[in-house]
Amino acid sequence: MLRMPDLPITSAGREMNGWQTGIFPESFLQPRLPSYIISLHENRFARARYVVGGVTPMEIKDRLEQLRDTIRTHDYYYYVLDRPRISDDEYDVLMQELKKIEQENPQYITADSPTQRVGGKPGAGFETIRHRAPLLSLENVFSWPELLDFDSKIRKIVPDPVYTAELKIDGVSIVLIYEEGVFSRAATRGDGELGEDVTLNVKTIRSIPLKLQKNLPRLEVRGEIFMPKQEFLRLNQEKEEQGERLFANPRNAAAGSLRQLNPGTTAARSLAAFFYDVIHIPENPLETQEEYLYFLQDLGLPVNTEFRVCHNLEDIAEYYLKYEERRHQLPYEIDGVVIKLNPLAYRKKLGQTAKSPRWAVAYKFRAEIKETRLVECEINVGRTGVVVPTAILEPVHLAGTTVSRASMHNFELVKEKDIRIGDIVLVRKAGDIIPEIILSVPEKRSGMETEIIPPLHCPFCNSILVKEENEVAVRCTNMNCPARLKESLIFFASREGMDIDGLGPALIEQLLSREMIRNVSDLYGLRQEDLILLERMGEKSAQKLINAIEASKNRPLYRFIAALGIRHVGVKTARTLAGYFSRIDDFFQVSTEELKEINDIGEKVAASIIHFFNEPHNRMTIEKLQTFGVNPRADGKEPQEKPLANRTFVLTGTLEALSRTEAGQMIEALGGKVTSGVSKKTDYLVVGANPGSKYTQGLQLGINIIDEKEFLGMLNSFKPAD
Ligand code: IVH
Repeated sequence: MLRMPDLPITSAGREMNGWQTGIFPESFLQPRLPSYIISLHENRFARARYVVGGVTPMEIKDRLEQLRDTIRTHDYYYYVLDRPRISDDEYDVLMQELKKIEQENPQYITADSPTQRVGGKPGAGFETIRHRAPLLSLENVFSWPELLDFDSKIRKIVPDPVYTAELKIDGVSIVLIYEEGVFSRAATRGDGELGEDVTLNVKTIRSIPLKLQKNLPRLEVRGEIFMPKQEFLRLNQEKEEQGERLFANPRNAAAGSLRQLNPGTTAARSLAAFFYDVIHIPENPLETQEEYLYFLQDLGLPVNTEFRVCHNLEDIAEYYLKYEERRHQLPYEIDGVVIKLNPLAYRKKLGQTAKSPRWAVAYKFRAEIKETRLVECEINVGRTGVVVPTAILEPVHLAGTTVSRASMHNFELVKEKDIRIGDIVLVRKAGDIIPEIILSVPEKRSGMETEIIPPLHCPFCNSILVKEENEVAVRCTNMNCPARLKESLIFFASREGMDIDGLGPALIEQLLSREMIRNVSDLYGLRQEDLILLERMGEKSAQKLINAIEASKNRPLYRFIAALGIRHVGVKTARTLAGYFSRIDDFFQVSTEELKEINDIGEKVAASIIHFFNEPHNRMTIEKLQTFGVNPRADGKEPQEKPLANRTFVLTGTLEALSRTEAGQMIEALGGKVTSGVSKKTDYLVVGANPGSKYTQGLQLGINIIDEKEFLGMLNSFKPAD
């Protein structure tokens, strides 16, 4: 492992003298590095001074540089070394100050400022870039004898070869160009000669510095952009819930994310990178691959530290075996190791074949694919009603765990791969985590196998399943389906819905587990004497809840429509609909055509509304709600003048349409509150471009996360409909 110099800030936030040299060659140390870092104490002082005013342009510029350097250093500690040195709030203070000064002095904004990561507007496509010299690929070997062969060819020219062994990161090959130490362009490898200009997207990757720690006139480096396994898992889960096509593996996910036309989308997916090669450097003073790696690291670029210098073949074998076993524990996917001749001097002499150098080779891992039998197909219904076929497998040991289930994601995939019950199938782990069936082996069929037929009805509630155009998923649209009931209830009672004060997820869970409710209409039949049986529920609070449920009967129609949780119908659409219909019963008679005549209602939304109101369970529930006296009318007045009263917001990342201050003012004007830290009490986390770690915290705490568009939609929805 490489040791990195410690940030010269003590926990008390004071500056210390110099870097701890560790094993770094003296020549790599940057004498001015310590001055990058100012203590937080100093920062607050400087901030106060700035606010007081009377500052000269020189002082503003100095302060900007100081802030940028400090933020860059903390980015480096956070994103590259994974060892943050200050809290998110402290980081936000620095960032906000930088933004404020830049806003007030736009003439001093520089391309390498940490505020400029998502500056670009979505492009129409990517420009093609011709690489200065063709970017080579690597020859693959799959066995020890082949590796010996590679070594013996080297030995013909290099007497006692020393190698570096590195991990072969399974991602997308990338070239970065820095001019005068500032990030200027990024291109994919493409076919080696022509790549794509992905500069704007690469800028959003937080571990890639926009400014190097050394001012070289021009530097070109090569590395790999990848998606960490956890992020891949998160993204695919999200896609499955949305009924979208999944990414096959983290490499495809990284490539797909890098090719997004909107840099904001790339920014929202946590990509990462490792660099391993110097393509161009003026007057190259370096002599070995190992030095390249240290050099890249010293510039502030992320370098994979799991490399090793190998003095003999045993070292290589040991390294290979070690990582073949350990690969499943790594947070990113690797598909082999790369063996490179360490001294650079021989590279030219050894030359290259058509596409790959003779001084390096990829020693690939055997693909972890196992054969097993699919014994059953289980059908699950997810939170959003998506129906997911899951293969039950004869247990098989695969990539570090025993696998007995594999999601088949959707029935289109089952059909495409012709997977049948009883089939022998090949399984692997996508992204080293998610077991998946690659294909079935029809040659091994006995004739007893049975086809997997997509169900027409939900296995939990028997409702007819619905498939939307352009979606791969089939869905259950019954809001009371036991598989989705909890989520439907939480949403129904939430502030976006009927706003039943005090009826949160924990209480709903209790009511469900005691079988006190089976659908949303049962809420209105609850009595005080039933409620006091619940945990932590006294007479008073039971009465309060009954009152809150009672009060919700008179909500305006749009709230009721929104509370039903109809797919594609949020508060805004609900408001539009409430402008056209006076009673909920009207929806039972309406046709798709009539709905489509309404402004803003397209085919997809209209179809979803029709499905919802035609679903017999939903009809029954609505009728039952009406008998309980829930009969909202379009002219119902909003009882609360401050629709965001008691709601707490946290903002993270850069918003495009408005500044954070403006966003805060708007929230407060509607009665809401903005706090700086995410906690369980946070109602909404608004995520802009380049979100900080609050985003991860929000995900972990299960907080309602909304993007800028949703946030603006929410604010808009409180404007009276005209
Ligand atoms: S060296 C001229 N080192 O593997 C040699 N490549 O199959 C340049 N890769 O296109 C490549 N990790 O995208 C090198 N540590 C590593 C690597 C690595 C991943 C990728 C790279 C290359 C592909 C070759």
